[in-house]
Amino acid sequence: MARPKIMTVYGTRPEAIKVAPVIKALERDERFTSVAVSTGQHKEMLDQVNAMFEITPAHDLALMKNGQSLNQLVSRALEGLDKIIVAERPDVIISQGDTSTAMAAAVAGFNRGVKVVHLEAGLRTGNIYSPFPEEANRKIIGQVAELHLAPTSESKENLRTENFRSRNIAVVGNTVIDALLKASSWETCFDDPRLNALTSTDQRVVLVTTHRRENLDAMAEIGAAVQELAVQYPDVVFVLPLHLNPRVREAVLPHVDALANVMITDPLAYDQFTRLMARSSIVLTDSGGVQEEAPSLGKPVLCMRENTERPEAVLAGTVKLVGTDRVRIVAETSILLDSAGAYEAMSKAVNPYGDGKAAKRSVAAIAQLLGVGERLPDFAPEVEVAEPGMDEPRLSDQLV
Ligand code: UD1
Ligand code: UDP
Repeated sequence: MARPKIMTVYGTRPEAIKVAPVIKALERDERFTSVAVSTGQHKEMLDQVNAMFEITPAHDLALMKNGQSLNQLVSRALEGLDKIIVAERPDVIISQGDTSTAMAAAVAGFNRGVKVVHLEAGLRTGNIYSPFPEEANRKIIGQVAELHLAPTSESKENLRTENFRSRNIAVVGNTVIDALLKASSWETCFDDPRLNALTSTDQRVVLVTTHRRENLDAMAEIGAAVQELAVQYPDVVFVLPLHLNPRVREAVLPHVDALANVMITDPLAYDQFTRLMARSSIVLTDSGGVQEEAPSLGKPVLCMRENTERPEAVLAGTVKLVGTDRVRIVAETSILLDSAGAYEAMSKAVNPYGDGKAAKRSVAAIAQLLGVGERLPDFAPEVEVAEPGMDEPRLSDQLV
């Protein structure tokens, strides 16, 4: 019997990071043939991740174009993926997360009668417009998926509320934690000498990332908040690895590019970014992946959004929603910079999103779907993460 062919489709930086552990696990597994397909929705930011994890996609649609509409992107992705599906005839398509690439991959697979597996299934804010278009994308993917790989029991519960069957849902953890643990095993130094210099000082670092489509109008506010904080706290270094979306740059740069204690960088390679996160005191972000990684490193996150589909770390007390209003961002960051007690309360390491075995559980669940193996027990986070002993350093210590 021919080995089942698993096609993993991805197109943006976070998808690449999150599918990398699964692609690697599939490549090692003799039961399957693995085909990695990139839509190229991102270019430079995706190349960085492919290089880091040593993944060369068998097909690359190279779809990135400045200023294309969501409909242009999705229709080009559907058309390109359809040809690849016809040529490769996969048994399963893995679609990760909630991007336009992920939605197109799921719909293209479904229309061709391929079993769709949704990795990172069941995340919901409950507001179809926020995040836009991601909340709608993940609901559409859910409708056509045969297997839902939920990262947490909360995400499984969201799917159960929408009447998806329990037997089609496996709680596997989030593969981003697998990727983070992998990155912690790499020897890394920063390409940027300014970041390298930071490793030998004890200056406090605030790491800032922003890119969300629904935040683009508010992004000047975010820039203005960083500017105000940088002036108010000249001894703190604010590092902004800016997303390559020109609209992000246009909104943020005018506020911050002339300040001595603000470092603007291009997007960092994953190993350097995770190392910088570990070196930081506070993370200001609207990113989904960063909301998942920073709590594992014991870093307080101020999430610049009104809501989140990742409530687990908010409940654990390490992520706080602060919205995009300049005054609120400045006030909440100031509290963490001024009050050791407030900082301490938010900086305990918690791992609600994974234990580094999410790829293994995902592959096992796919094997069961195809009748060639058994699932593993669901991921269940430890409620309290014990302070590690001498032989078991904190993940953030391994990365610094
Ligand atoms: C996309 C996803 C979003 C995800 C984010 C991760 C959709 C609708 N949005 O948003 O869910 O959180 O990726 O970063 O799928 N660009 C480059 N080089 C790159 C990448 C982007 O120049 O390597 C620029 C291009 O001008 C591109 C623009 O950024 O047109 C926006 O990229 P796009 O993929 O449309 O949206 P993101 O905001 O990145
Ligand atoms: N990241 C990175 N380099 C950077 C900024 C972020 O490698 O300069 C990683 C980060 O560790 C996380 C992912 O990119 O794993 C998040 O991507 P992004 O914020 O673009 O998208 P989202 O997660 O919000 O969809």
